[in-house]
Amino acid sequence: MIRPDDGHLHLRDGAAMASVVGATARVFERAIVMPNLKPPITTVAQALDYKQKILSSLPENTHFKPLMTLYLTDETSPEEIEKLAQTKDLIGVKLYPAGATTNSNAGVTDLRKVWDVLETMQRCNVPLLIHGEVTTQGVDIFDREYMFIRHILDPLLENLSTLKVVLEHITTQEAVDFINNGEDRLGATITAHHLLWNRNSIFQNGIRPHFYCLPILKREEHRLALVEAAISGSPRFFLGTDSAPHAQSAKENSCGCAGMYTAPAALELYAEIFEHYQALDKLEAFASFYMADFYGLPRNTKQITLIKQAWQMPDKCALGEEVVIPVRAGEMIQWQIE
Ligand code: NCD
Ligand code: ZN
Repeated sequence: MIRPDDGHLHLRDGAAMASVVGATARVFERAIVMPNLKPPITTVAQALDYKQKILSSLPENTHFKPLMTLYLTDETSPEEIEKLAQTKDLIGVKLYPAGATTNSNAGVTDLRKVWDVLETMQRCNVPLLIHGEVTTQGVDIFDREYMFIRHILDPLLENLSTLKVVLEHITTQEAVDFINNGEDRLGATITAHHLLWNRNSIFQNGIRPHFYCLPILKREEHRLALVEAAISGSPRFFLGTDSAPHAQSAKENSCGCAGMYTAPAALELYAEIFEHYQALDKLEAFASFYMADFYGLPRNTKQITLIKQAWQMPDKCALGEEVVIPVRAGEMIQWQIE
C-alpha cells in the first residue's frame, strides 16, 4: 500500500518526543501534530520551532513530515491566522474547549470570544480541528460528544457556512451520522483504539488506566458504528491515531491522565480491524488517501508492505527518563510492516 498519513498525533516535547517520534516516522509519511504542549503552541513562530525540534529528533533514514497546528485560545488574533495561512508548514488550528482534555486549560472558554478568528479562518481557508466534547458541569461523560455536536458544532457550521472542519477522534453513532449527513467540508478522524475496544475494557476485572482516553470509550453499538464508517469507503472518515503517550506513573495514579499510546503498532492495529471485517481492500484509502484529499495535499507515492506475521509488543517503551505502557503491552500484534 501507499505510505499512510496520521491525521492526529501527540508527540510531546523534549526527551519524551525524541523517544516516541520514531514509532510514527517508521511507517507514516506525514502526521498532523497536536499543539497541546505545556505551554501550548499558540504562535506560528512556536509551531515552526517545534517542527524543527521534531525533525532534528528523527531517527536516521526516516522520511517524515510533521504538519503543524496552532492551539486556539481566547487570545488568538486574526493576524496570527493570516500568518498561518501563508506558512505551508502549518495546516490548521485546533480547538480544545477549556478543560476538555489533557493540557486544555488554555483552551477556548466561549466560542464568541474567538468569532473573529473563526471568520478569518473561513476567509483564508484554514481548517478547524475540533476536540468535540462539551465541558458543561453535570453533563455525563458519555454524552459529551453528542452534546457538543448538537449544541456547538451544528450551530457553528450553520453560522460559518464555508469553514472547513475536522471532528477529531469521533466515538459515537451520532458523530458518524452527523458526518454522513453533513457537507463535504466536514471530515472526521477515527482512532484504532475506538475501533478495537468499547467501554467495558476500562473495567475488565478491575480499573484499567491504560484504556482511559478522551473522548472516553463508548458502548459496543458505538464502536460498531465507527467500524462501519471506517470501512465504508467514505472519504470523509480518515485515519487519526490520537496516539497520546503519558508516563506510566501519570497513568497508574489516583488521578490518571487520559491518552492511549498506539504509535508502536498503529497501522498494524487498523489492519487487524479491517481484516476482521473483511475490508482490507478499504484500508489503503482510509489510511493513505483521504486525509490528503481532505486537506488538499498531494497523495503520498512511496509504498510500504504489511505482512501478516505476529510479533509481541514490548511491555513498556521509553518516554524520556520514564516509560510508557503501549496498547497491547506484552501481547501479540497480528500484522507487521516489512
Ligand atoms: C490527549 C493527550 O494526552 O494529549 N489525550 C487523549 O486522551 N486523547 C488529548 C486529546 O486528544 O484529547
Ligand atoms: Zn488527541
